[in-house]
Order: sequence, then C-alpha cells, then structure tokens
Amino acid sequence: MRARQSRPSVARVYSYVLGGRDNYGVDKDVGDYFIEDLPGSELLAITNRQAVLRAAKVMAQAGIRQFIDMGCGLPASVNVHEVVREIQPDARLVYIDDDPFVVAHGRALLAVDEGIAVVEADIRDPGGIEKHADVQRLITFDEPVGLLFGITLSFVNDEEDPTGVVQYWTDRVPTDSQVFVTHFRSGTTRQAIATAHKILEAFGRGRFRTDDEIRACFGTLTLDEDGLRPCAQWRPEPTEAETHQPELTVWEELVVGGLARKP
Ligand SMILES: C[S@@+](CC[C@H](N)C(=O)[O-])C[C@H]1O[C@@H](n2cnc3c(N)ncnc32)[C@H](O)[C@@H]1O
Repeated sequence: MRARQSRPSVARVYSYVLGGRDNYGVDKDVGDYFIEDLPGSELLAITNRQAVLRAAKVMAQAGIRQFIDMGCGLPASVNVHEVVREIQPDARLVYIDDDPFVVAHGRALLAVDEGIAVVEADIRDPGGIEKHADVQRLITFDEPVGLLFGITLSFVNDEEDPTGVVQYWTDRVPTDSQVFVTHFRSGTTRQAIATAHKILEAFGRGRFRTDDEIRACFGTLTLDEDGLRPCAQWRPEPTEAETHQPELTVWEELVVGGLARKP
C-alpha cells in the first residue's frame, strides 16, 4: 500500500480528474497537469465514464443480470451496480482491480451486499479470476455475462496479449453475453502526443492504440452496428445528444468504445 503512495496510481488520478477525493499529492500533481496544462483533457475520463455506465445499462436492458467489471476503478458518484440494479434489481457483480487501494475503498463502498464482490486481481490472469471464490459464487457461466473493460486494456501491453484476455472470456461465456471495451486511441495532434507521453511517464504503462488495433482486441467477436466510436458518441442519452456539440474536441477523439455480443 505504501509503495503505491510514492507513485501516482491510474485509479486515483482518474478518480481525481472525475472530481473524487481519494488521492495523494503524487496523484494530484499528475491530475493537475492534465487539468491545467492540457485543459479539456478531463473529457477523456468524463466521456469514458459516461459511456461505461451507458453500456452497463444497455446490457441490463438486454436482460443481463451478472457482470464482471475488469479494472473497475475507485467508487465514483455513480457506480455500475447502481445503474444495472435500477433495471435488474437482483443483478450480481464482481468488481476487479489490481490496485489494493481501489479494492479497500471498493469493499467499503461498492460491496453493499452479498450480491457484489470486489476482488483484487490482475485482468491479465483471467484463469485466476475465473477460479476466484467470489467469481465462482456470483457468476454462473450458463447465463449471459456482461463484461466491462473501461480503459483497462490500455494498460495491457501488446506482449501481454490484450486480445487473449478478452478471448478467454469470450470462449467461456454463453450466447448473448456482451463485452464493452473502451480504449485510448492514438492520434497525431499535439494534445494526443502530450497525453500519451504523460500517461506513460506517470504510470510506467499505458498504450494508445489505433482503431484497427482496438478492434483486434475483440478477437473473434464482431462489434455491433455502432462499431467503434468516440465514447462521447457511443449511444448518447437523448439529453446528452441534444447538448453535445456535433464537432468533437481533440480530447474526445482520444477515447473510443465498442460493444459486442457473443452470438
Ligand atoms: C482509467 S481506470 C478506469 C476505471 C473504470 N473501468 C472506468 O472505466 O470508469 C483503469 C482501472 O484499471 C485498473 N487496472 C489497470 N490495469 C489493470 C490490470 N492489469 N488488472 C486489473 N486492473 C487494472 C486500474 O487500477 C484502474 O482502476
């Protein structure tokens, strides 16, 4: 836990940019760099978070009642279980994160009943996650599963096989399961280069990928009719669509998402 405090954490910086309070000076320094030196960059976090919550809602509306949130991040003002349980009140959720700080806060704030678990695990070890007692208890693999990868694969290097991570679950879950992936998208603008550089410098990891590389992360799954698109434009709620500028900012172009259903 202490070692993590001497280095910024992805989860705490992301939470700080979204307005959260659980952070240390090292996280605040990185977050302030984004907010002050790259004004507007907070839209990456904001539009991603909104898209992840909308995707969770879409899955619940499709009848999915069990979810695994891969790299869930710190508790936020609105959380995945709150969104899905508005539609599926008995939905079961496993929140996964490899950051012990996230897990400690998550156990206090997210695991509100027996139907929700917060597990410390690495998404690069899907076999270990599947065998975890809480996953065995809450997830049944003969019923559709909703899988969320909200900017988590961006922290998996090529040689660590992000496609293989998604494919593991695709092979495991039944028909009508759904997978939502958001990812940093590479760009050539000054803002894109500065953001990618700062993320790598601060966290020692963080891959921005091209659209083709991100599509490849879906493995054998085919993206739905919306395809891969900037999170700001991924199925916006009618109210968001009305207020949103038709032209995306350079920041909004840098995070994209897509949904796929297992046939
Ligand atoms: C940018 S945050 C996104 C949080 C949330 N998924 C969302 O989209 O709002 C990325 C999260 O993934 C977690 N993470 C990164 N690499 C991971 C890994 N290999 N295994 C598990 N969690 C990971 C980080 O600790 C962080 O909480």
